[in-house]
Amino acid sequence: MTPRARGLVIAIDGPAGVGKSTVGKLVAGRVGYSFVSTGKMYRALAWKALELGLDLEDDSALVGLAGTLAWEFPRGEGPEAGVSLDGRLLGSELTDERVGKASSGIARFAGVRQFMSGMQRRAGLAGGVVMEGRDIGTNVFPDAELKIYLDASPEARAVRRAEQLRAQGLEADYAQILDFIVKRDAQDSGRKNNPLTKAPDAHYLDSTSVPREKVVDAIVELFKAAAGGSAE
Ligand code: DC
Repeated sequence: MTPRARGLVIAIDGPAGVGKSTVGKLVAGRVGYSFVSTGKMYRALAWKALELGLDLEDDSALVGLAGTLAWEFPRGEGPEAGVSLDGRLLGSELTDERVGKASSGIARFAGVRQFMSGMQRRAGLAGGVVMEGRDIGTNVFPDAELKIYLDASPEARAVRRAEQLRAQGLEADYAQILDFIVKRDAQDSGRKNNPLTKAPDAHYLDSTSVPREKVVDAIVELFKAAAGGSAE
């Protein structure tokens, strides 16, 4: 295999709310890589489609829209690449619950997925990147040098999410959050096109009762081994 110019591709997949972004950013910071959240790309398209009142069930209209937008992924202060559409850097727009739900819906479609996968491959091809999503190790980078499947029980993910919201001074209904997580899992794992599933060669890490720092340490160790001991 030809080495990539900037290092390895580290693929992190797993269900909603498992901490892929937090863990991925910390890993990227430790190893000096950039971090890309592919969910943000689906969310950005969903946000724009909602803004324009587009039919969210029309795959070709969504692909058409995606193709007219100027997509950029600028690096800020930290390792994370942001998502900017037509020069507008997106932030809180993407965390809106409506946008999250719509993004999971549009991510079912073959055309949308093909567009996103192509863009994600171009973004990560040179390596030196931690990329998180649902199908990075199975579809976007089946040849990633390191693949992680991060998992946790729906209950543990709901507890963490409720704690996050309360820490921000927001209301959190545990039962409602759990219901949302279970439905999102079913949609992401049950779809026909590139469903969420563990790649056969991915390392399975269950973080249900493991602190985040330990998960990060474990991935950095796997990175060192994959990089041939050349390391951090
Ligand atoms: O990780 P997230 O919650 O920001 O992702 C939003 C939605 O996008 C998620 O419900 C499923 C979809 N998604 C996907 O299908 N494939 C990816 N690689 C990333 C996200």
